[in-house]
Amino acid sequence: MAVIGIFGAGSVGCYLGGCLMAAHTEVVLVGRASRRDELRAHGLTISDYKGRTHALTNVMLATDASALQQVEVVLVTVKSADSAQAAVDLAPHLRDGTWVVSMQNGIDNAATLARGLPRCRVVAGMVPFNVARRAPGVFHQGTEGYLAVGQAPGLQALIEAPFAKAKLPLQWQEDMNSVLWAKLMLNLNNPINALSNRPLKEELSLWAYRRCLAMAQRELLGLLKKADITPARLTPLAPQWIPRLMSLPDFLFSRLAHKLLEIDPLARSSMWEDFEAGRRTEVDWINGEVVRLAERLGEQAPVNKQLVRLVRDAEQGGPREWQGSSLLLSLKAAAGSA
Ligand SMILES: NC(=O)c1ccc[n+]([C@@H]2O[C@H](COP(=O)([O-])OP(=O)(O)OC[C@H]3O[C@@H](n4cnc5c(N)ncnc54)[C@H](OP(=O)(O)O)[C@@H]3O)[C@@H](O)[C@H]2O)c1
Repeated sequence: MAVIGIFGAGSVGCYLGGCLMAAHTEVVLVGRASRRDELRAHGLTISDYKGRTHALTNVMLATDASALQQVEVVLVTVKSADSAQAAVDLAPHLRDGTWVVSMQNGIDNAATLARGLPRCRVVAGMVPFNVARRAPGVFHQGTEGYLAVGQAPGLQALIEAPFAKAKLPLQWQEDMNSVLWAKLMLNLNNPINALSNRPLKEELSLWAYRRCLAMAQRELLGLLKKADITPARLTPLAPQWIPRLMSLPDFLFSRLAHKLLEIDPLARSSMWEDFEAGRRTEVDWINGEVVRLAERLGEQAPVNKQLVRLVRDAEQGGPREWQGSSLLLSLKAAAGSA
């Protein structure tokens, strides 16, 4: 059976790696020394919203990409800002033809990896669910969904069985671009959640924040139409209907979207976690991607551009606790002056 490498042992990397190890697949985890020490001290526990828990002991974590020399498949799970450096770190060590799967949000990570790893076979993937580090060594899948990977028969032969055994069924997608744009549309809530400084459930229960999200999503949908990109359907509701659902007043929304609000009451977006940790966020690869799409089309994306600006400002110590009504006014002003 194929040995699977994970480059970037963070929330997604430790969770996917932990699930595979729990199902007896050989995994080589590569990450930071601080994570190695954490796993040494606490082991690695994976859990999910269905109540599954599995604790692993003696989990090895390498801090150098040279540990991946013999693997046939590497899942890249670093944040988008680190993709280019990940390719630099991996390039001297991976064998020709190694499969490299970007399990990241954003549109361009697979292309960035492919540029830096010309002798590898790079494929885009998508993680639909939320993973949070709940405690040292404990990684929790909080929501449902199937992993998506771009169709590649050689890769499928290597990883379909271990992923199925790990209860991580894969969907092989012909058009990953439409899947990634659909995921990005859902991720447009990340900056709004981070700027609200509230748990996701509370933020999504409030009309003003949902209207902010609907504005950002409508802007993207308009641009995708002009670019002739049809976003894939990742939720029971087709992408075109999601902003309409978000725009409904609270009493209707809570009736129609109760499933969507079945979220861990404490869960927050990873962008909020980045604010808390003083890390650079992925906003340039989420809302920034919408702005770049607009530029390519000779159009504008004032709402998403304003969200990029506000998140950058918050990264530099600016306001981080926006009331829904103030955020909505700010986005409307940006849209009105465009
Ligand atoms: N978490 C989620 O719920 C979720 C869900 C779906 C998709 N995603 C996407 O999945 C990707 C990963 O997200 P995440 O939440 O797992 O991020 P994360 O927790 O920050 O994990 C990334 C890890 O990779 C490490 N890293 C970065 N560059 C490295 C390098 N050159 N060598 C070794 N280690 C390196 C980081 O260390 P440092 O922090 O020290 O740099 C960090 O520990 C992102 O694109 C995200 O948008 C996340």
